[in-house]
Parts: sequence; structure tokens; C-alpha cells
Amino acid sequence: MNREALYKLSYGLYGVLAQNGGRRNGFIANTVFQVSSDPAQLALACSKDNFSYGLIQGSGRFSASVLGRDASAGLIKVLGYESGRDREKLAAFKMMEHASGSPVLLDGAIAWFACEVTQAMDLGSHVLFVGKVVDSDLLDPAAEPLTYAYYRDVKKGRAPKNAPTFSGVGHAIAEEAEKYTCSLCGYAYDPALGDPEQGILAGTPFEKLPPNWICPICQAGQSEFQKR
Ligand SMILES: Cc1cc2nc3c(=O)[nH]c(=O)nc-3n(C[C@H](O)[C@H](O)[C@H](O)COP(=O)(O)O)c2cc1C
Repeated sequence: MNREALYKLSYGLYGVLAQNGGRRNGFIANTVFQVSSDPAQLALACSKDNFSYGLIQGSGRFSASVLGRDASAGLIKVLGYESGRDREKLAAFKMMEHASGSPVLLDGAIAWFACEVTQAMDLGSHVLFVGKVVDSDLLDPAAEPLTYAYYRDVKKGRAPKNAPTFSGVGHAIAEEAEKYTCSLCGYAYDPALGDPEQGILAGTPFEKLPPNWICPICQAGQSEFQKR
């Protein structure tokens, strides 16, 4: 098997929210996609380790918001790297309560879907939920959706352990080519590229980064970076 083939699969990035028994939560997923048109249904691969998994399983509902390119690194960090098991993650973000019973993420979103689970397939580490779309809206028709490729190649993000794409080649390439990797989110600092968004010129070695430089994906300090 050539794992590099997996790198050629295309995805978007989504904020998936659910609530059950008075507890609401959400996570980032790249595995949301349309699987039928009549009725319109979406599929979602959700790790059994995600706190959100129990909420979707218990309520039979979830919402999926399509993230735009401008979605903040902070949003992806909180929803995609921290767990609602440990704290309330949604308080800082703009949301709405949908009549169907699911909260819907509006922060960083360009469109959203409210779904009712029609089927759940056990895949081992993940469960594939199929959800019938009971409502949807387009928030910004002109905005570009954030694709997984853009997140990985331009924003330099990686997928954490619970993402189905975790063991994909992105990590392997990063580990071979990069010297310092963020232990929290897997972001690999590339001296050849620097970090123009934080004013770091191409060619700057990790050791020469200013002390206030932080991980552009999860905002971790330099002490969280490990030499590879
Ligand atoms: C880019 C990216 C893609 C991800 N894709 C998925 C996914 O498709 N399915 C999944 O279960 N987790 C995925 N994750 C991981 C979850 O978002 C992460 O484990 C989250 O902390 C779970 O939150 P919870 O425990 O509060 O539910 C992804 C994370 C990132 C950053």
C-alpha cells in the first residue's frame, strides 16, 4: 500500500456541533460529505474517543458548519485539539440554537446544515453517521470554503490523533523534512518558508525565532516544540 495515495483525497473542514442532556459541544471534522440527494444526506466519520460522539449518539442529531478560509486558528485549536470532556469549548464562539435541537456554529462558517441521524455504521476507531439534512443555510455565498489541502499547505496545519486522516502521509512528510514539530498539534516549522504571517523571513532557523513567536496553528509556545 502506498500511503501517499491517501494524500490525494480531497476534503473540506467543518465545525460539527451537538447537544444532549443539557451538555453541548463541538469538534473539527474533515470527513463530512454529501452521500445522497433525495433525501439530502451527509455522512460524518466521528471518533469514538471524541466527547461529541456520545452527544451525537444520544441525541441522534448534529449540525455541520462549512468553515471558510478566514476561520481563525484559535477556533480550529479549541474545537479540533481540545476536548469538551475537560471544559466548555463553545462559550467563546458565535452560535445559534436550531429548532431541531442542535447548536450551530456561525463563527468562521460560510454555510451550515442541521442533520438528523438516519444510520450509524461502526468502523472500529470511528463511527460513520449518516444524517438527513432537515435545514441548511448559506451565510456567505462569495466566500471560499476552507479545504483540508489549504489548511495543510497554506495554514500549515495537521490532523490530530482522532482525525481519520491522522496516520496519513502529511505527518510522515513533516517528520522527515522538518526539524521542529509542535507536540500539541503536529505543526512542523519549516525554516525554508519561515512564517510570513508573524514576520519571520524565509531561511530563519527555529533557534533564531524571536521569543514571542508562537505556533501559528494552536498558539503553543516554543517550549512545546520538539526537535526531530
Ligand atoms: C484538521 C482536523 C480534522 C479533523 N477531522 C476529524 C474527523 O473527521 N473526525 C473526528 O472524529 N475527529 C476529527 N478531528 C479531531 C477532533 O476535532 C478532535 O479530536 C477534537 O478535540 C474532539 O473534540 P471533543 O472531544 O470535544 O468532541 C479533526 C481535527 C482537526 C484539527
